[in-house]
Amino acid sequence: MTNKIKTRNKDINLDAPFHVSGRTKYVDDIPEHQGTCYAKTYYSRCGNGTIIKLNTKKAEQFPGVIRVLTYKDVPGENQIGGIVADEPLLAEKDVHFYGQPILLIVAKTESIAEKAMELIEIKYKEKEIIVDPKEAYEKGSVLAGSRTFKLGNPNSNFKKCKYVFEGEADSGGQEHLYLETQGAYAIPKDQGGLFIHSSTQGPTAVQRVVAKVLGLNMSQVEINVNRIGGGFGGKEDQASHWAALAAFAAHICKCPVKLILSRHEDLQMTGKRHPYRSYYIIGLDENLKIMAYEATFYQNGGAAADLSPAVLERTLFHATNSYYVPNIKITAHPCKTNIPPNTAFRGFGGPQGKFVIEAAIHHAAKELKTTADKIQKANLFKNGDEFSFGQIVENCEAKKCWDETTKRYKLKQLRKEIDTFNKENKYFKKGIALQPICFGISFTNTPMNNARALVHVYSDGSVGVSTGAVEMGQGVNTKMVQVAAQAFGLELSDIRLEDTNTTRVANTSPTAASATADLNGRALQDACNQILERIIPLVCELLKEKNPKNITFEGGLVKAKRKSMPWQELVQTALLRRINMSAKGHYSTPIIHFDKKKEKGHPFAYHVYGNSIFVVKLDCIRGTYEFESVKIVHDFGSSMNKALDLGQIEGGLVQGMGWMTMEDVVYDKKGMLKSNTLATYKIPDVYFVPKELDVHFLNTKHDNLAILKSKAVGEPPLMYGLGAYFSIINAILAYNPNAKITYNAPITTEKILMALYT
Ligand code: MTE
Ligand code: HPA
Ligand code: MOS
Repeated sequence: MTNKIKTRNKDINLDAPFHVSGRTKYVDDIPEHQGTCYAKTYYSRCGNGTIIKLNTKKAEQFPGVIRVLTYKDVPGENQIGGIVADEPLLAEKDVHFYGQPILLIVAKTESIAEKAMELIEIKYKEKEIIVDPKEAYEKGSVLAGSRTFKLGNPNSNFKKCKYVFEGEADSGGQEHLYLETQGAYAIPKDQGGLFIHSSTQGPTAVQRVVAKVLGLNMSQVEINVNRIGGGFGGKEDQASHWAALAAFAAHICKCPVKLILSRHEDLQMTGKRHPYRSYYIIGLDENLKIMAYEATFYQNGGAAADLSPAVLERTLFHATNSYYVPNIKITAHPCKTNIPPNTAFRGFGGPQGKFVIEAAIHHAAKELKTTADKIQKANLFKNGDEFSFGQIVENCEAKKCWDETTKRYKLKQLRKEIDTFNKENKYFKKGIALQPICFGISFTNTPMNNARALVHVYSDGSVGVSTGAVEMGQGVNTKMVQVAAQAFGLELSDIRLEDTNTTRVANTSPTAASATADLNGRALQDACNQILERIIPLVCELLKEKNPKNITFEGGLVKAKRKSMPWQELVQTALLRRINMSAKGHYSTPIIHFDKKKEKGHPFAYHVYGNSIFVVKLDCIRGTYEFESVKIVHDFGSSMNKALDLGQIEGGLVQGMGWMTMEDVVYDKKGMLKSNTLATYKIPDVYFVPKELDVHFLNTKHDNLAILKSKAVGEPPLMYGLGAYFSIINAILAYNPNAKITYNAPITTEKILMALYT
C-alpha cells in the first residue's frame, strides 16, 4: 500500500478535489477511439399524428453522413418500455409527442449530422392533442390501471366531522437539469457484442433495453458507468433510450458511436417530474384531528408509461405525509397525454401526494382562522398508528422532530417577531410555514430491494470494490469506501472503488429510491465479512489466539488479545496459504412485502422524518420575495458522513423550493415545450438560497435497516420545499386577507402579484 494520504476525517467527499479541479470524467470526456462516429436524433415536430411523408434521401447523400436509420433497421424489437411495452425506440407510423425520436443520423462529425437533419423532409397528419391529465382520463386515455388505497370508512366519517373542506390542488412538472446531459458512447467488441459507456442510474436497465432492441443476449452487452453528472431520477429509466440509440448505430455501422444530447435536445425530448391535478376532501373534529381524507389524483404521465405506474403508487404511499388519518380513500389515475413521457424525479411522486394534503390542511386552517401548524401538530404519526397501506408506524420520529424544531428555533418568539413586522410594514410582509416530512425507504416494488458487491483484497493489502451503485453527486462512492474501510480497519485511501460495470455486478436495481447506500452497503459488508471469516482461523494461528471473538481489525492492524500484526502481512500469508481473498456479497432487504391485490403490506424498511420552519419576506409591490431563513431538524439516524448528508439536505431543499416556486414547465397548444431554454426555465441560483439555513442533525440511533444506522437521505429533503409554497401564501394573506387562494404550484411571481391584488 503506497498511498500515503491519511483520510481519518470521515466527513469528506472523496470526489470533491477531482470535481473542483476539473479532473472528474463524464461520458463526453472519455478519450475517443479511432473511427468514432456521432449520432443525432431527429425528433417529431408534431404532438400527435401520423407521418404521411418521410424522405431521408438528401440527408443520406450529404457528405460525411454514414447512415440514416429508421425503425425498420432495428434488428431486435423496436420497443424500450420498462413497465408497459408502449414506447418505440424510433417512431413507426404515428407520433405521440413533440420531441419523439423518429430517425437516427450517423455521421463523421456532430455538425455534419446536425446539417443533415435540416435536409429531412417530413409531413404529418395532425390529430388533436391532450395535455391535461383529467381531460385525458375522461376521454379514456390512460397508461395503466387506476389504484385505490383505503383505510377505515371515510364516507360515514365525513358525516360525523365537525368541519369538512374540499378543493383542488395542482402541482407542476420539473426539469431534472442534471449538469451532464443524457448520452452514451457505444463501442463494438471484438467478438461481437458491445461495450457501452452510459450516463445512467440503471446500468442493468440499459443492458436489458440494448439487448432487446438489438436482438442480442444480455451477456453480449457490457455497460460501464464511471459516474454521472447528476440524475435526480431522470436517468433511472430514460438513459436507456440514448444508450440504445448509440448501440443501435454502433451495431449497424460497425464503428464506435457517440450520442450526447445538447441541452436543448435534452430539455425537448426527455420526460420530467409528473404534473398532477388533484381533488381533496378533508374532515376534522373540534380538536383539529383529521378524521377522514379523500383524494383523487390525475397524474400527467405523458405519451408512454415509462415509470409512471410506480411513481403513481408512491403518491398514494405518501398521500397523508406525516399525519395519521383513520379514514382514508385515495385514488390515483395514470393519464396518457401528448407530452414526453414523464419519469422518476427525486421523491418519485411522493412530493405530489404530500402537496395535496398540505393544501387541504392550509385550506382548513384558513377557514377555521387558525394556523396550519396547529392542525399539522395535532395529527403527527406516532408509534402504533397505521398507514393507509397497512404498515404500522415504528420508531417514529415525527413528534421528536417537531418538538425539537419549535424549541430549538423558538417558534413562539419567531411568530411574534413576524406579527410585529407585519403590523409595522405596509408593503413588506413576512410569511411563516412549518413543513414536516415522512418518507418511506425501499423500492415500493419489493423484488427490486436487493444488491450485490464484489471485493478483491490484493497482495499488498489494498482493496478493490465494485458494487451496483452509481455515483451521481450524492456521495455513494465515498460511503461505499467508508463501509469497506471500516470492515477491514483500513484507511479510506486503501480502498479503490471501481466503475459500476454489469460484468462485475449483474442484475442490479437502479441507483434510486434513496436506498443505494443501504442496499449496496449491506452487500459490501457481506462480501467483506466472508473474507474476514475465511482468514480468522489463520489470524488465530498466527497470533496464538484461542478466542476468535477477540480479534479486531483497526488502523491497518489485526489485533488479538495480546499480539497484533500488520494487515498487509496477514494478507500476504493468507494468499501464500491459498485462501480466497475475493468475495461476492449479496443483500436483500428482510421484512418488506406488499400485496397489490389488497393494497396492503409492509413495503418500507423504515421511514425518515423531519421538520422545517420557513420564513419568507415578500415585497408586495413587486411580487418578489426573499427566503430569510429555513431551519430544519432532520432524522439522520446516525449519520456516517455529515458533510455528504448535509449536502443532500441543502441540495434537496433548494430543488424542492424551486419546484414549488419558480420552475415552470410550459407546453404550448401543439405540445411543444415552451420553457425549452435556460432563459425561459428558471431554476434556483445562489441568490435564491435562504439567507440563513440551519440544519440540526437529530441523532435517532435505532436498530434499523439503514447502513451503519445512517438513514437514507437522498430524496426526503426535497419535500421540505413544500414549506416555500405555504410560507409565500401566508405572506400574501398577511397583505391581503381576502386574497383568492388557489393551490396551484409553482407559485410564480406572476401568480403572487395576481393573488396580492385580487
Ligand atoms: N444528489 C446529487 N448530487 N445528484 C443526484 O442526481 N439524485 C437524488 C438523490 N440525490 C441526486 C442526488 C435521487 S433522485 C436519489 S433517488 C438519490 O440521490 C439516489 O442516491 P442514493 O440512493 O445513494 O441516495
Ligand atoms: N423509488 C424510486 N425509483 C423506483 C421505485 C421507487 O420506489 N420503484 C421503481 N423505481
Ligand atoms: Mo430517485 S427519483 O429514486 O432516482
